Amino acid sequence: LPTDIAQEQYSAKEIMAEFNILISDNISPVCTDIFTSAGLQVDYSPGLAPDGLLNKIPAYHGLIVRSATKVTREVIEAGRELKAIGRAGTGVDNIDLQAATERGIAVFNSRGGNTISAAEHAFALMMSLARNIPAAHGSMKNGKWERKKFAGVELYQKILGVVGFGQIGREVARRARAFDMQIIAFDPLIPEEVFASSHAENCSLEEVFRQSDFITIHVPLLPETRHLIGTRLFEICKPSLRLINASRGGVVDEAALFKALKSGVLAGAALDVFESEPPGNLKLLNLDNFVATPHLGASTREGQDRVASEIAQTVAAYLKDGQVSNLVNEEILGK
Ligand code: 3PG
Repeated sequence: LPTDIAQEQYSAKEIMAEFNILISDNISPVCTDIFTSAGLQVDYSPGLAPDGLLNKIPAYHGLIVRSATKVTREVIEAGRELKAIGRAGTGVDNIDLQAATERGIAVFNSRGGNTISAAEHAFALMMSLARNIPAAHGSMKNGKWERKKFAGVELYQKILGVVGFGQIGREVARRARAFDMQIIAFDPLIPEEVFASSHAENCSLEEVFRQSDFITIHVPLLPETRHLIGTRLFEICKPSLRLINASRGGVVDEAALFKALKSGVLAGAALDVFESEPPGNLKLLNLDNFVATPHLGASTREGQDRVASEIAQTVAAYLKDGQVSNLVNEEILGK
């Protein structure tokens, strides 16, 4: 197209689009497609540095993120036009909810879309720990054949403790039952009948740590869950315990975990999430009984398409028609 016609069409599109959406993380193209079909203007800029986000945000009505973008008070206050923040995923600990609520900005997440991916990843970590798969693979890559060193343990008839018995925890438990594991779980927010229907015994956190051979953690990061798992619980667990955390970094005290793994208080641990991400120089990585993945729990093609589609539909419906679903900060409704 001649430049002037292209310019004219571009301007017309700008005027027509009532709402501008900024996508600042690596999100499935399904998200952009849904917004665009709904007549919204999308700027797909994954990996925006904090300064870049601050400079751009004043022009946008909607911001869509995963966990990498830190939506701080500063960002929210700079977002003069901001009406909605959408989290293509579950955890919203990277968004200053208080600041958003004060400004009447709706925060939405996509619940359930990545549940299966997260549950499967936790299970993959559990099997990796049980059979030393990452270490054995690394050893073979280095030309070795170490069968004795990497002998493992079975999951069969072992006790799996689930800390946090919401959707993801229950999906892990469902898979564990197929392996003939016995399930015990801790979650003060879940009614007794849910434990019963999931064939899980409702236990205190301490009892879960005393009895389990494997523990998988599925809780959000909140002030009351920060360092929930640390020395106090490692002191009462079996030395054969293997711990998996694919929920949120910060729930497990990494310094305490390092000490427990190094001294043999725990048999092994696998983390997908870290107190700071990326974790930088993580001492845990020097230990043979430690397995790590870089926050991959929700990173599957299917999970990403689902959360991208859910969040785009939710935010588009809110901006265009005022429809509300999956709202995190319900306090804004009274404002
Ligand atoms: C979540 O909270 O939904 C998961 O931890 C996924 O986070 P991510 O979208 O950054 O992969």
